[in-house]
Amino acid sequence: MCGIVGYVGSSDAIDVLLNGLSSLEYRGYDSAGVALANGTLAVHKREGELAALESALPTAELRGRSIGIGHTRWSTHGPPSNVNAHPHTDGEGRVAVVHNGIIENYQSLRDELTADGVTFESETDTEVVPHLISQALSAGASPETAFRTAIDRIEGSYAVAAVFAGSETIHAARQASPLVLGIGDDGYYLASDAPAFIDYTDRVVYLEDGEFARLSPEAVVVTDSNGNVVETSVETIEWDAEDAGKSGYDHYMRKEIHEQPTALRQCLRGRVDELTGTVTLEELDELESSSPVQFVACGTSYHAALFGATLLRDRGVPAQSFLASEYSTDRIPVDSSTLVVGVTQSGETADTMRALREANRAGAETVAVTNTVGSSAARECDHALYIRAGPEIGVAATKTFASQQVALTLLACRLSDGSNHDVIRALRDVPDQVQTVLDTSQATEIAAEYAESDAFFFIGRGYQYPVALEGALKLKEISYRHAEGFAAGELKHGPLALVTEETPVFALVTGDDERAHKTVSNVKEVEARDAPVVAVTDGQTDVERYADHVLEVPASNEIGAAITANVQLQLLSYWIAHRLGRSIDKPRHLAKSVTVE
Ligand code: F6R
Repeated sequence: MCGIVGYVGSSDAIDVLLNGLSSLEYRGYDSAGVALANGTLAVHKREGELAALESALPTAELRGRSIGIGHTRWSTHGPPSNVNAHPHTDGEGRVAVVHNGIIENYQSLRDELTADGVTFESETDTEVVPHLISQALSAGASPETAFRTAIDRIEGSYAVAAVFAGSETIHAARQASPLVLGIGDDGYYLASDAPAFIDYTDRVVYLEDGEFARLSPEAVVVTDSNGNVVETSVETIEWDAEDAGKSGYDHYMRKEIHEQPTALRQCLRGRVDELTGTVTLEELDELESSSPVQFVACGTSYHAALFGATLLRDRGVPAQSFLASEYSTDRIPVDSSTLVVGVTQSGETADTMRALREANRAGAETVAVTNTVGSSAARECDHALYIRAGPEIGVAATKTFASQQVALTLLACRLSDGSNHDVIRALRDVPDQVQTVLDTSQATEIAAEYAESDAFFFIGRGYQYPVALEGALKLKEISYRHAEGFAAGELKHGPLALVTEETPVFALVTGDDERAHKTVSNVKEVEARDAPVVAVTDGQTDVERYADHVLEVPASNEIGAAITANVQLQLLSYWIAHRLGRSIDKPRHLAKSVTVE
């Protein structure tokens, strides 16, 4: 996920672009860049946060230019660096391009362009676009035709904008990545998200998939893929600049919970083929070993690892999960026949890094499952599988956990034999099912009922056991309430002593198998001790009979149910913390990336 911005009008473009990029930094902050037109192109880009670019810019020199585009990057292809930063150019000073999304056919386009004698500077997928435009310009096309020719060739998701030397027009296109136009008194704007220009105008036009836009000082014209002009409606944004950074949400955490359908689609894109039942993980093409598998991880990522290990064992692959902080001191047998998988959102967690280094020293083959391209874990391991969740700013992990669940499911398919048809079908439906939970959840009401409780317990079996642990962790982190997750069968071996009428028990009961029915029995034990019971269920058992409240999830297989049930628990934690007035995005004592052991 990256952020793009563009401006053409009567003001200094550089001020508008930098202001816009600072509002888009939540979309990525590993590098940033701008390209100003009017006459020759001036392109400046830097690795690091926006501040690094700002301090390197010859801002005074750039004044007087009133057309430009900008980009803030969250790496997908190629690690953060000056060269991989956007805008990308054709190397001949004719065109500069910014892009958000993933160009799935970039490798074949790159091969084709290379065979035609084009030299690439960066490792990005984006760089094929300026070269395709440049080829068309050389063949005599106008900037607009050249832009359309290039866009016609690319597949995948994109919000793209381009500026041309000697031209006062920005050309843009959208397919499955957000792009919004701003209609101001001093000019026209484009951005991945309206906060980028909300200081200047609240009048917007949302570009649809397959549409193109032409922004000049005189007008904005939107066209369809055939070049026909499209009637657009100008909408007025309700919120103001202050809350815009969170896209209108009170907290990043809530925004990130709501981004999950998009994040999951992004994780799946180009990796599954429903017809053939094939899972393709290009990043793991060179992977040799397949078992035994050892997962190492911390916190929320450890819960995802538990989920991954259960999946593998269910598919006949020996797999275990270890807390990374215990791994190196516990003398776990590991050798060159072992595949060690580090699950880490940030890719920087010190405990996980140490465990991965130990594994590498022992000769194991290693994989990092991470959200962060070019992170320490990605560099340390033999292979990196990216979860593509986009930047997560709230300290409590939400969308990255769901994306880890999906990525680990894909990894389990890759490492095991047997048909993947059912799994792929379930994964296909999950983004919509998560959306259904987000649209219909009763978590606010449940939070109101129980926010003041003494303690909270979460129980689940099998795939729902890690979700029980994760539900409890999320609640303690952001509400500071006492919460514990248990394997449902363990309750009677001790924790039941803590259960009272003041301690709600959240029971995860999905599916209609032995695990689900045994958990219903545990619910009865709890009910007999007068504890309030909230069942998180898809309604396939009669657990509702023993529950005071129900949080519904759509019927799915065990993978889908573990993802949607967790979303209910995220919402529950969020609303309890909200009622208690906690610092939701930055809970006390915690940090997003823990770089000490
Ligand atoms: C909980 C949370 C932490 C992290 C843990 C590992 O919401 O965010 O428990 O999961 O610190 O972090 P990563 O995944 O970056 O290794």
